[in-house]
This record gives sequence, structure tokens and C-alpha cells, in this order.
Amino acid sequence: MGRVENKVAVVTGGAGGIGAAAARLLAANGATVVVTDLAEAPAPDWEETGAALYLRQEETGAALYLRQDVTREEEWTRVLDAVIDRFGRFDILVNNAGVGFRRSVEDTTLEEWRRVMTVNLDGVFLGTRHGIAAMRRAGNGGSIVNVASIEGLIGDPELAAYNASKGGVRLLTKSAALHCARARTGIRVNSVHPGYIWTPMVARSVAAAPDPEKARRHLASLHPVGHLGTPDDIAYGILYLASDESRFVTGSELVIDGGYTAQ
Ligand code: NAI
Repeated sequence: MGRVENKVAVVTGGAGGIGAAAARLLAANGATVVVTDLAEAPAPDWEETGAALYLRQEETGAALYLRQDVTREEEWTRVLDAVIDRFGRFDILVNNAGVGFRRSVEDTTLEEWRRVMTVNLDGVFLGTRHGIAAMRRAGNGGSIVNVASIEGLIGDPELAAYNASKGGVRLLTKSAALHCARARTGIRVNSVHPGYIWTPMVARSVAAAPDPEKARRHLASLHPVGHLGTPDDIAYGILYLASDESRFVTGSELVIDGGYTAQ
């Protein structure tokens, strides 16, 4: 018996990194998983990310890949209607899609600020709002997991817009959790706060450094455990929050960061 047996999950930004790991783990634990991302179709290198699993499931009708831009409200309606039409229920939403951006407050333009906030905060707002409505319609309660960051808990001089977006996700999550609890919806809303995880997002940022190997070592050294995290480290936390094992957990923040914020 899987930990999320028979549940239907949507994972945004699931083409790679943390989203792909979460989707894989939810599927391995019995959920039907709908993966959404920007690309029209899963990229050819999905084999490498393990996403081939969903393609195989797609053939058997047990899972689906849908193109979705999380910043567009009409796409939320389209995706969640399709999920309920096809599977008849909707239990888990992982608002994972996000973008990184390294600039200090002085060096960030309004346009850059808005781009980061649109994906990282508007996207999670839209997902939470429409996710709650769809879960209410489906009628089985549910669990919404918002992927924030340690950068939503502490400041970094080079992450002005990213800090603001992830801090916003943290408190939006608590407000939504309280609303859902008060209205006795049976819907829980929690945030996850990863330290640095070796994903395409972090690999891109490291590759852009003058000395990538040194940059990677530096990032690792920021974590008291002495190394970066893996996508599965975060996926296990998401699985817990998605499952009924966490039925008394709402409005909480699950920090998975190798001790980064304990210092
Ligand atoms: P990633 O870049 O590997 O994956 C993010 C995915 O989101 C990509 O597949 C991308 O296509 C998708 N995406 C971007 N904009 C989108 C949009 N508008 N609509 C739909 N999909 C969109 O990144 P990673 O590292 O897997 O990050 C996942 C989440 O975890 C993000 O929210 C990120 O901010 C957060 N996070 C990552 C950390 C890390 O060290 N990798 C640390 C803390 C938080």
C-alpha cells in the first residue's frame, strides 16, 4: 500500500529538478500524477530525469503531462478542469514551478522584480486559489504543498526579488491554511523550504560563475552537513505533507536544508 495510494496529484514545474523527483516519488507511492510545465511536450532528455515513468503511465491512461504556464489564470482553470474530468478527484497540488534570480536590490530593475514575483508568487497564489476551489469541487479535502526556500526565511544580499517572492509564499501559505481550516474544508496548506539542491536551476547558476567548481564547493560549504541536497531529499518532505500521515499539519513550514538556517 503506497503512502498516497489512489490520490490524484498535480505537480507544477515537474519537467526536471525537485518537481520531477516529487512526481516520481508520489507515483511510486500510489498516486496518479499530472505533471505540468512550460514546454508543449516533455523534453527528449526526460529519460534522464526519470520522467519516462510518466510517459509510460500516459500510455496506460494512469497519468498525464499537460503544458501549463502557472502565471496564466486561464491555464489553471483548464488544467484543473481536465484533471477532475479525467480522474474524478483531486487530492494533492505541489506548487513547485519557480525561477531563480541573483541580483541585489540596487541592481534589480522593476521589470526583473516583476518577472520573479509573477512566477514565484503570483503562480503560487493562482495555484493555491484555484487548487482550493477545485479540491472543494472534487469533495475529498486535500493537501497543497508550496515550494518556498530557505530564502523565504533568511535574507541574502544578492537575492532581493527571490527573497521577497519566497517570503511571500511562506505567509500566503499560512493565510490559506487558516482560511481552509476555519472553513472546515479538509484542505491543508504547507510550505517546504529547501536549502541548495543540485537541480538544473542551481547547475545553471554554478555554470555561470567564473570558476564553477569553486562556486559549487562554496555553495556546499554553506550547509553544516558539508554538501548540497538532492531533489529526493525534498521530494520525501513533499510526500509526507501530501500524505494523510501529516493530517494534523497545516500552515507549517518544513525546512530541509542540511542545517543551513540552524546557524
Ligand atoms: P528547475 O529550474 O530545475 O525546475 C523548475 C521548473 O519550473 C522548470 O522545469 C521550469 O520549466 C518550470 N517553470 C518555470 N517557470 C514556469 C512557469 N511560469 N510555469 C510553469 N512552469 C514553470 O528548478 P528546481 O531547482 O527544481 O526548483 C523547483 C522549485 O524549488 C522552485 O520553486 C525553486 O525556487 C525551489 N527551490 C529550489 C532550490 C534549489 O536549490 N534548487 C532551493 C530552494 C527552493
